[in-house]
Amino acid sequence: MALAGIFLMLFLIFHLATNLLMLARDDGEAFSEAVKFLTENPVVKIMEYFLFAGFLIHIILGLLLKLQNYMARPVKYHKSLQTETSTFSRFMFHTGVIILIFLIIHLINFFFVRLGWVPIPGEAGEVANKHDFYSMAQIWFKNPWYSAIYLVSFVFLGFHLKHAFQSAFQSLGLNHTKYTPVIKVIGTIYAIAISVGFAIIPVYFYFFH
Ligand code: HEM
Repeated sequence: MALAGIFLMLFLIFHLATNLLMLARDDGEAFSEAVKFLTENPVVKIMEYFLFAGFLIHIILGLLLKLQNYMARPVKYHKSLQTETSTFSRFMFHTGVIILIFLIIHLINFFFVRLGWVPIPGEAGEVANKHDFYSMAQIWFKNPWYSAIYLVSFVFLGFHLKHAFQSAFQSLGLNHTKYTPVIKVIGTIYAIAISVGFAIIPVYFYFFH
């Protein structure tokens, strides 16, 4: 679960870096060039299979862990324990489910369009082709509800990542009195950078484009 999680965390850095090209004031030219390269590159195509396998493994193991915990104690504690665990760690399953719901909506509205499984949205259908994600983003994020769903999801994504980062190191046995506090700080910076970084995109399209 930790290894799949680390892979997904690396994907997020890569995905964010590509998406931030949407902010260049060039009507999506740099971003579309990057998308063209990524969608045509055979290595990236193979990585896509690993990515979906990574998501699947991570989700299945998360569900099994939840089930295992439930079987071990079907009746909840009467009084919640006063432990060292952070709020973020206790809600990993819940934040994970929210991210999964976000992901399903997100894939339907972007990725499935490229695959031709769903039609190109609204005006983009007239002005663009199924690879023009810039026009699609423009249309989707002009909708306040759609942007709000994204922004709320990114808050929970940040919560999930904050604990996930340090937890991955712990699961791999990389625990150290000296380095663990540093890992926690890096994890917090990573979680904030990813969620704020992604959040800039709907805000930009909604207010400034
Ligand atoms: C404002 C934020 C985001 C934007 C604008 C965005 C944009 C896109 C676009 C345009 C695609 C289609 C790429 C293609 O088919 O080649 C895509 C695919 C995808 N996105 Fe996002 N994304 C955002 C946030 C996220 C987040 C937070 C996650 C994960 C939690 C995520 C996970 C994925 C996955 C798994 C795919 C399919 C694989 C791929 O094509 O790379 N995205 N996204």
